[in-house]
Amino acid sequence: VHAPATVTVTGAAGQIGYALLFRIASGQLLGPDTPVKLRLLEIPQAVKAAEGTAMELDDCAFPLLSGIDITDDAGRAFDGVNVALLVGARPRSKGMERGDLLEANGGIFGPQGAAINAGAADDVRVLVVGNPANTNALIAQAHAPDVPADRFTAMTRLDHNRALSQLAAKTGASVADISKLTIWGNHSATQYPDLFHAEIAGTKVTETLDISPGGKDQAWLADEFIPTVAKRGAAIIEARGASSAASAANAAIDHVHDWVHGTPQGEWTSAAIVSDGSYGVPEGLVSSFPVVARNGRWEVVQGLDVNEFSRARIDASVRELVEERDAVKDLGLI
Ligand code: NAI
Repeated sequence: VHAPATVTVTGAAGQIGYALLFRIASGQLLGPDTPVKLRLLEIPQAVKAAEGTAMELDDCAFPLLSGIDITDDAGRAFDGVNVALLVGARPRSKGMERGDLLEANGGIFGPQGAAINAGAADDVRVLVVGNPANTNALIAQAHAPDVPADRFTAMTRLDHNRALSQLAAKTGASVADISKLTIWGNHSATQYPDLFHAEIAGTKVTETLDISPGGKDQAWLADEFIPTVAKRGAAIIEARGASSAASAANAAIDHVHDWVHGTPQGEWTSAAIVSDGSYGVPEGLVSSFPVVARNGRWEVVQGLDVNEFSRARIDASVRELVEERDAVKDLGLI
């Protein structure tokens, strides 16, 4: 059994928080050998609700849960943190412009990045879930100059899992047999779920589905698969009357678990990480790539052939990330 890890969850009283905390405390985030100390960060108005969730966590009597602290102070929340899950964010309200949204979130993720810089453990790993996730991660990272940039990530794992599920439904395959699918770019409607390298039980999807230009399945790819994955969040809100929460929490668990424990041999997943310039994505942007986790670090899967269809879509999503970065720069947030 390892020493307890400190896991901080922001927005802990929100709906993703409610779906996430019990799974962390049960050991699904860091495995059965690592006890967890939970830190819940909330805004003052929501501290009481977080306390209620903490009462329920107590009542589960999780053997691995070795303590819960609740605070509205980022400095306290991130002191000694090993895994920071930044879930709380300012949602877009009606009529809010992108600049206003970025500014409001800059006011959250800048100070949180600074608090991580000041107090986090040396091995800290940060996953930003709160939207706009990629740019919020960029803002936090920019405020943490003493933390290696590769410790800041944003979540596209939910998009990845949605794409797995859609491809399984189309082909009749089991999700467990699908590998090498990629989400590129921004966690937004411009994201590009790429099937051109995907395999089902070791056979390339392109041998089963003719998704090449002019192929009989190209229309399905362009007009069904890609938009269904990209707009799944809106479809969930439409059906459920609330945004995806349990599936988002599940993806956060998957992301951190893989980061810490490694991705299975011969497979990859998707995560938004600080670009090193791979695949023409400008260095420093937080963009989603095909990644493997080795020795506790994400590495971009190199050497993939990117066809014209994919290139145009990756470029469009990356362009949006550049615009968001330029906007937060103009606002003085980074
Ligand atoms: P929610 O509104 O139920 O909960 C958000 C919580 O964050 C609230 O309790 C609020 O009090 C708290 N909060 C706000 N500002 C805070 C701050 N400065 N410090 C600490 N806590 C703060 O929202 P929900 O459904 O839990 O979603 C959270 C975020 O996750 C949203 O931004 C949502 O858009 C995003 N999301 C991202 C996904 C992804 O794939 N990357 C998927 C689904 C949601």
